[in-house]
Amino acid sequence: MRFCLNVDHVATLRNARGEAQPDPVTFALMAEQYGVDGIVVHLREDRRHINERDVRLLKELITTKLDLEMAAVDEIIEIACDVQPELATIVPERRLELTTEGGINVIDNISQLRQAIKTLHQSDIAVSLFVEPDLNQIDAAAEIEADIVEIHTGHYANAVGEENIFDELERVRIAAKHAKKLGLGVNAGHGLNYINMKEFVAIPDIDEVSIGHAVIARSLFVGLEQAIKEMIKITGMNK
Ligand code: PXP
Repeated sequence: MRFCLNVDHVATLRNARGEAQPDPVTFALMAEQYGVDGIVVHLREDRRHINERDVRLLKELITTKLDLEMAAVDEIIEIACDVQPELATIVPERRLELTTEGGINVIDNISQLRQAIKTLHQSDIAVSLFVEPDLNQIDAAAEIEADIVEIHTGHYANAVGEENIFDELERVRIAAKHAKKLGLGVNAGHGLNYINMKEFVAIPDIDEVSIGHAVIARSLFVGLEQAIKEMIKITGMNK
């Protein structure tokens, strides 16, 4: 299973002072040296953490791949087409949320998303849709020619009690299998950490995980190199 690191939280810390440090771009370059398979950033409409300068520099400097999380709105689509990340992951976005709260409703937004995918494809950008582990949403993603679905793992991460955890993991497992059968690439993310990844990594149909908070938080205690290597040890169990 590939492991891509989301560095948004480094930008949050930088912006707390309104100065240049810590620089998420430098952080991403170091993360690549320690073995991550890609870098993820979310360019939000309100620019609360990552900004355009970060995205442009990342695209220029990183040597793995850039996954740009974004809302399907004209301003951000235009920037994406200009920067050309290797992957655009379309997420729902609300100004008041602390973080992305759930998958995008593909069925209810099908014509807007179809158009966004078409525009991004015209610029040779692969497109992933961040969706709930819901077979109907995944069918809709395939219908409008998404390349990948990223399955929202927040319910699994927040589940309490053995039975609930098992049920949520099953939902993700079934959704991943279904997406693979339709020919989609399968990513997953949100709330994954060093503990819940131990069972998660056994799901055979997931190609890649996108993890931010747990790894950035751990790096404060043990340093970035160790935080990354510990996660690679887990994700590497399913390669
Ligand atoms: N995937 C998506 C689509 C997200 O929005 C986020 C949160 O930015 C993540 C993955 C990473 O979540 P976390 O920071 O909880 O690892």
